[in-house]
Amino acid sequence: MSRSAHPAGPRHADVLPEGHYSAPAADLNVLDEKVWSRTVTRDADGALTVGGIAVARLAEEFGTPAYFLDESDFRARCRAWADAFGPDADVFYAGKAFLSRAIVRWLKEEGLNLDVCSGGELTTALDAGMPAERIAFHGNNKTVAEIERAVEAGVGRIVLDSFQEIVRVAHIAQRHGVRQRVQIRVTVGVEAHTHEFIATAHEDQKFGIALADGQAAEAVRRALSLDGLELIGVHSHIGSQIFDMAGFEVSARRVVQLLAEIRDEHGVELPEIDLGGGLGIAYTSDDDPREPHEIAKALSDIVTRECEAAKLRTPRISVEPGRAIVGPTAFTLYEVGTIKPLEGLRTYVSVDGGMSDNIRTALYDAEYSVALVSRTSDAEPMLVRVVGKHCESGDIVVKDAFLPADLAPGDLIAVPATGAYCRSMASNYNHALRPPVVAVRDGEARVIVRRETEEDLLRLDVG
Ligand code: LLP
Repeated sequence: MSRSAHPAGPRHADVLPEGHYSAPAADLNVLDEKVWSRTVTRDADGALTVGGIAVARLAEEFGTPAYFLDESDFRARCRAWADAFGPDADVFYAGKAFLSRAIVRWLKEEGLNLDVCSGGELTTALDAGMPAERIAFHGNNKTVAEIERAVEAGVGRIVLDSFQEIVRVAHIAQRHGVRQRVQIRVTVGVEAHTHEFIATAHEDQKFGIALADGQAAEAVRRALSLDGLELIGVHSHIGSQIFDMAGFEVSARRVVQLLAEIRDEHGVELPEIDLGGGLGIAYTSDDDPREPHEIAKALSDIVTRECEAAKLRTPRISVEPGRAIVGPTAFTLYEVGTIKPLEGLRTYVSVDGGMSDNIRTALYDAEYSVALVSRTSDAEPMLVRVVGKHCESGDIVVKDAFLPADLAPGDLIAVPATGAYCRSMASNYNHALRPPVVAVRDGEARVIVRRETEEDLLRLDVG
């Protein structure tokens, strides 16, 4: 990622410290639409609005920190993915990115399917009325109880992740007198990163069954031999926050090769392949994600080409985007507390949340952007690090960014693109109360996941 060295302008330093930051935008008041959800704009007073509601009103009504989710953007993204892949493919939203009952209902209404990876996600999906046949159940260590529940509910597919699980699911299905539709998750030996892909030592990770050494072929042999299983296809998920399609192409090619081998050995053409999720989104202005239709075209071209070469019927493709659907649709709103200028370094801006509502910066060194949203400002840009209120120096929300130098306690700032893996990975560290998720649409805002309360904390603590 290109990073300029020392942009000019901050108040607290003649020479800026080394860091991962781009030059400040020419005008800090301008919101880069790449990183903000679709209905976000500034009103005549300069305040950010989402779904037609100004942040000051949202903060007053729902408090801070809070996640605000742009419902019409979420729905539009669902439709864009469904339209891009068309009727001959299936889009499964990856619930791990963020799941709630409202989300499940929107997915259902917009025609998407759902990938769950735990009993809790399955319960949420079923409770909110997602038809079981539209649910895929994932996980490298599903418990017997979880498998029982999935089989009883009649989920559309269970993605098998190990040799032991092949037998486990087959037995449970047989006990229930059903043939469970399953896919086998294979590890294709490709690990995709943001701008590159590298071949990995595939055996050195916990997911899937390796294509190499004939392990996946052996898994297929076993699955085909068991009465409780209906093997419908092969699954591959290569990583996350990927912009480069090359990794997906290698993955698709290898999966199709496996289908050809299966046809040659067993005389069976498996009808489906799933290429997983992992498509990247824009967290900062430097990121350039692909549009769903480009992704759909690239994947379907490669699968069609490879199938033609192998004289296979083209299988039905499915994908599992999580971040690419929900990530860009929400921002986290914080109130600025302490501001601490460190001469010659940077200014530390403390907010009322932190690593408990966004662990991604601490965990993955993730990059985010930030903006002053309760007002505009003509002050010069200052280099800031936005930090939380937790007792940990790694409690960083935005590592390096620019905010106006007249920033003051009480201002509202917002971090965009926090819809994925922020609320879903939120914690109670320091007994923080996990923030609410508020859906905003057409001038109306409603809580879809409420803020945790101190009573919630005490209720779990049984003394
Ligand atoms: N399908 C499977 C089998 C997966 O394991 C995942 C993500 C997805 C789909 C969805 O991937 P997405 O499109 O959302 O990238 N906590 C990390 C991401 C972990 C992803 C785990 N699996 C983060 O915050 O970046």
